[in-house]
Amino acid sequence: MHILLMGPPGAGKGTQAANLVKEFAIPHISTGDIFRAAVKEGTELGKQAKACMDAGKLVPDEVTIGIVKERLAKPDCAKGFILDGFPRTVDQADALEKILADLQIKLTSVLNINVPAADLIARAVGRRICKKCGATYHVRFNPSQKDGICDTCGGVLYQRADDSEATMTSRLSVYDAQTKPLVDYYKKAGLYVEVDGRQAIDKVFADVVQCLKD
Ligand code: AP5
Ligand code: MG
Ligand code: ZN
Repeated sequence: MHILLMGPPGAGKGTQAANLVKEFAIPHISTGDIFRAAVKEGTELGKQAKACMDAGKLVPDEVTIGIVKERLAKPDCAKGFILDGFPRTVDQADALEKILADLQIKLTSVLNINVPAADLIARAVGRRICKKCGATYHVRFNPSQKDGICDTCGGVLYQRADDSEATMTSRLSVYDAQTKPLVDYYKKAGLYVEVDGRQAIDKVFADVVQCLKD
């Protein structure tokens, strides 16, 4: 099962990807997570990515495409993957087509989690992530049992640097200008399905699984 998970910032891609990993035991590849890991390690890539992420802009295509190409060539991707947050531009989508053709992989489906812009800032600003295991919470919509502590591993929860209202505004306009055109791109390819991301997390997941079965 080779899945592309699309949707605007804060739509619930990471949340649903975590559920899909449990259900299908395939790797979750998030370019955002890869960049955040590089920032944490303080690598050259991390420095370049941090400047873009903090501004709510995209990391340059040539950098991002190279990273994805390398990751998808790893053996664990042969039986399936969930690609989250890539592609985000038409050039990235064209490059992905070529990468997958070379690997003789066909996409199963392109799932878009649709959430109106008005809801997205609240989702991002209230998001909390576990430092230890990466689990995602929301102070209102999906709170941990103990304030600031992860339910699963007891790790401390933190807020992403780009989850401020100001950076979200910029991320949302970048999404509209550069990523939204991919909806038509994948509709034309006959791969596109949409789920209503305004529903509760488990309801969205049920729809995601249903779409994959259909
Ligand atoms: P990335 O990390 O991919 O961020 P994003 O696309 O902006 O998406 P998010 O991770 O913010 O949201 P999500 O959809 O995963 O939502 P989540 O499940 O966490 O990218 C970050 C940056 O890296 C980019 O801005 C760019 O700079 C760079 N980058 C990454 N990929 C790139 C690429 N391909 N090219 C160039 N640059 C790239 O949920 C959000 C919150 O909502 C959580 O608190 C969650 O608990 C809550 N929530 C989830 N579902 C629901 C629900 N159904 N109801 C209520 N609350 C919910
Ligand atoms: Mg995410
Ligand atoms: Zn944890």
